[in-house]
Amino acid sequence: MSKARILIVEDENLVARDLQNMVRLLGYEVTGVVQTGEEVIASINRKKPDLVLMDIVLKGNLDGISVAAVTWEEYGIPVVYITSFADDLTFERAKLTEPFGYLIKPFEERELELTIETALYKARMQLLLREKEQWLSTILRSIGDGIIVLNAEGLISFINPVAQKITGWSEKEALGQKFEQVFCLQNQSLPSPWSEDFSPQEAVLVSRDGLEIPIEQTSAPMPTDRGLGPGRVIVFRDITSRKKVERELQDSWARLQRALQGTVQAISTTIEMRDPYTAGHQRRVAKLAEAIARELGLPEAGVEGLKLAAEIHDIGKIYVPSEILSKPTKLTELEYTIIKTHPQAGYEILKNIEFPWPIAQIVLQHHERINGSGYPKGLKGGEILPEARILAVADVVEAMSSHRPYRPAFGIDRALEEIKQNRGVLYGTSEVDACLRLITEKAFTLD
Ligand SMILES: [Fe+2]
Ligand SMILES: [Fe+2]
Repeated sequence: MSKARILIVEDENLVARDLQNMVRLLGYEVTGVVQTGEEVIASINRKKPDLVLMDIVLKGNLDGISVAAVTWEEYGIPVVYITSFADDLTFERAKLTEPFGYLIKPFEERELELTIETALYKARMQLLLREKEQWLSTILRSIGDGIIVLNAEGLISFINPVAQKITGWSEKEALGQKFEQVFCLQNQSLPSPWSEDFSPQEAVLVSRDGLEIPIEQTSAPMPTDRGLGPGRVIVFRDITSRKKVERELQDSWARLQRALQGTVQAISTTIEMRDPYTAGHQRRVAKLAEAIARELGLPEAGVEGLKLAAEIHDIGKIYVPSEILSKPTKLTELEYTIIKTHPQAGYEILKNIEFPWPIAQIVLQHHERINGSGYPKGLKGGEILPEARILAVADVVEAMSSHRPYRPAFGIDRALEEIKQNRGVLYGTSEVDACLRLITEKAFTLD
């Protein structure tokens, strides 16, 4: 690294010459030797030195201390003061400017070199820090989120333009204020900014003009705030438009749900009008299936899908001649084979409707059995959808306990006996247990 370039400011010619020699002997380049404050500025503009060696007491209108303030603040050039005497007042004033070093005459070469090198190093570090601070401050000011920094006493020490806009407090008004004064929340349900919970929280902020603004905020500790101990940074954003979109989405989802439910209901009524013997069967199966699903803790979305699937699970019977459906005597093998086509037929009807749940699959699988003896595919255990396993149990229990054209009702006890006996064979164990609990312990009724 090449040696630094130094400007010497000394109004005694002899001293100035000695100093110049000493500086050169140390290997530094001397960019000039001047006598007054005014000459310093002119020389700096011409030759841009790295450091100024300057007598505190100068001739002319500007003294050394005033000149030092300008060279550092405006040009980023550090000044090392040289003085033969220093009273307390001069030192106090000198301290107000960034003091990079003092040399009291007379001094040795070694001392001069050490002071110059320390001053250069200190100046480099301070410039770097200043640059970093400017960099950070530009980011904080141009970022799209509101940012408020609190000191250890909970007073605002920084507020960026976005935070000023949301809260309605200008920087001048907000600095030094208590956080709660500026950051006014409608309900105080949010954890205090000092809590250890850093996850984003939603709240409604009341601006200075009384506007209610939905926001999302996070807060985190600031390691130290100018020696005052840990501070806090609060980052928040206006989520008005996001909330609006969310509400619209929820509304349209609810409308879609209602439309789907209405459609499914209409289909279900159509089937039951044609097949009065199973009138109400699908509705009661849906009720029991929903209860079993909740007992098993199925997620809400799953329960919704299962309910709708259960309401129309026998839709495929529309392809079965009504004489077979309402036949008062026992079915022949052929008739039974025809009836067994209804899950597949139901699937074909529903498969192209884009339900948000696997309705067609649930309908297709409602006669599958755990041991693979069901139809149409002979699926086993885990191959069968959880919703279809629940539906199977609900379907059998309802069907057996109700009247059929070809037989009287067996009653609920026979129905429960059937699922108990085939628990883990035809029907899933947890589904059977949940159904038994509901009916025997929790007084669930089908009607
Ligand atoms: Fe069925
Ligand atoms: Fe059924």
